[in-house]
Amino acid sequence: MNEILAAIMSRRSIRKFANEPVTDGEMEAILQAGSFAPTARNTQAWYIMALLGPERIRALDAQVREASKVPGFDRYRDLVSSPSYSINYQNAHLFVVVGVDPAVSPCPVQDGSLVLGNILLAAHAMGLGACWVNQLGAIADEPLFRKYLTGLGFPATHSIIGSAAIGRVEGEPPRAAPRKHGQINVLR
Ligand SMILES: Cc1cc2nc3c(=O)[nH]c(=O)nc-3n(C[C@H](O)[C@H](O)[C@H](O)COP(=O)(O)O)c2cc1C
Repeated sequence: MNEILAAIMSRRSIRKFANEPVTDGEMEAILQAGSFAPTARNTQAWYIMALLGPERIRALDAQVREASKVPGFDRYRDLVSSPSYSINYQNAHLFVVVGVDPAVSPCPVQDGSLVLGNILLAAHAMGLGACWVNQLGAIADEPLFRKYLTGLGFPATHSIIGSAAIGRVEGEPPRAAPRKHGQINVLR
């Protein structure tokens, strides 16, 4: 089978990671793949923030916990307040946040999702595992959380579209759920 198709079909969301670093080379290849995603009108209005290493990610965890307590931003309050919670599933050594400037892109959600899709697939192609993490979406506009992100360089103008934990897979990757039938309609 074509190796790109094989990678698309064998990629799974990974939520169990070995406590081992992601190399700079691996990270750069993954982020570059994200940067080559198609964008509406080729606006390339995305921004990718990569947090590499447990210390950076622990600091993010702490911010997520605080922001998730704030009324109106507390959709994941119960999940996040559990002592075992970590946005990187404990051991993923790379965490990426993708934002898009909605004043520049006509399709910010689509653009950012394609960037993240490339990132998830590239991580798998590099022999790593990755999983989309939704929790940042719920707290994206919580003022103190935004201030923290802005302090790290994340542009205040950009909407957070999604984020992903990336690391070394521990154990056997899960099997794909069976594909649903009757949802592809070919007309000739
Ligand atoms: C927009 C989006 C949000 C997701 N959010 C989460 C999440 O917050 N936590 C999680 O563990 N998985 C999350 N996932 C992963 C899905 O659960 C996963 O893709 C789905 O179960 C299919 O499994 P597969 O990726 O292994 O094919 C998300 C996926 C997408 C596309």
